[in-house]
Amino acid sequence: MDHFTYKNDALHAEDVAIADIAAAVGTPFYVYSHATLTRHAQVFTESLKSVKPLICFAVKANSNIAVLKTLAAQGLGADVVSEGELRRALAAGIVPSKVVFSGVGKTRSEMKFALEAGIHQFNVESDRELIALNEVAGSLGKKAPIALRVNPDVDAKTHAKISTGKKENKFGIDIDDAPRIYAIAQSLPHLDVQGVSVHIGSQLTELAPFRAAYARVRTLVESLRASGINIRTIDLGGGLGVPYATDDAPPPPAEYGALVAEMFGDFGAEFIFEPGRLICGNAGILVTEVLYVKQASHTYVIVDAGMNDLMRPALYDAVHGIVPVRIGKAPSAVVNVVGPVCESTDVFLKNIDMPLPHEGDLLAFRTAGAYGASLSNTYNSRLLIPEVMVKGAEFSVIRPRLSYADMLALEVTPEWI
Ligand code: LLP
Repeated sequence: MDHFTYKNDALHAEDVAIADIAAAVGTPFYVYSHATLTRHAQVFTESLKSVKPLICFAVKANSNIAVLKTLAAQGLGADVVSEGELRRALAAGIVPSKVVFSGVGKTRSEMKFALEAGIHQFNVESDRELIALNEVAGSLGKKAPIALRVNPDVDAKTHAKISTGKKENKFGIDIDDAPRIYAIAQSLPHLDVQGVSVHIGSQLTELAPFRAAYARVRTLVESLRASGINIRTIDLGGGLGVPYATDDAPPPPAEYGALVAEMFGDFGAEFIFEPGRLICGNAGILVTEVLYVKQASHTYVIVDAGMNDLMRPALYDAVHGIVPVRIGKAPSAVVNVVGPVCESTDVFLKNIDMPLPHEGDLLAFRTAGAYGASLSNTYNSRLLIPEVMVKGAEFSVIRPRLSYADMLALEVTPEWI
């Protein structure tokens, strides 16, 4: 459920008319609903209450500091994958003791920064990374709290480009090899081996892959404990999907929570989760204006948002539903909705039936709050677009549109050119 609804045929975010935001900030822009973010954080927390979870929001899904602050107020911590994300989490007031650091390629300077901040856990993905982290921690006179991220060789049954839990993916340590790597970790003096972590992919629409992965993790923890390694934290990752189209039906958080309780309810450990999309996906929309309706082999609705603003359709064949900001009486037509970027992949929707818009009409892409703004870029020298947060009847720009002056000022031309 979200708080983007029609009132008198006009799309609103909570109590604010989207058209009013468009008039104030121009198009395109992202808009997030504070109430939706808060609700999702609460629903997910509630669904896992049997294991008293530490929920570390995956910052990569939406890294805006106002969003992070909204989630921090609900008790969420952060799952970060870079120093930049860690700095954002800290700037949002997330305490370091609620931060886990994931990723296959942490640099030594990122390790140092995170150790000095005093984060809760490094999720380490290789023996080489263990050795580097041990050295960095030693040089600071500290012990790094670590979990090993294991790769359980489970097919997440999601899009190949967002699947991480199969042997052939670059992520994690082969679960069959994990006991050997844990033994190495135990022997390194500047590491505190505290946990295990797993994350098999994103936008999962079935529970079975979670069940398979978690069963393997459970067996591993039992055998590590039996061999004297004190596993105290179990990080079960993120990945639960959200409905993008009306016929998508990912399992609700309550069913996921019941699975976790069934599989780990009797396990004494701290349970960590790293949801991203589930928390912020349908808390955001992308609003765009129709520039032209072009009649060619197809009817093209050319909008002012491009693949640089919302990359998911071009990258993962993702389908983001589109709705009018004002419901009118236009006859419906079969159209392709495309952006202005000079790439054939700059297509949002193909052959969809929608009321034929006119130039100047506003449209909104739904479920754009996760991996929308955070994946956006300035390709074609287009400006990063604004992000807006709505709370009740108020709205605020939480990241302004960059200016052309800012864009040009970043670059330096050497004298010898
Ligand atoms: N934990 C780790 C270690 C991850 O790699 C990810 C996502 C998450 C948690 C959060 O997953 P979520 O709950 O959001 O599914 N850009 C792609 C998704 C890439 C996901 C990368 N890792 C997309 O737009 O679909």
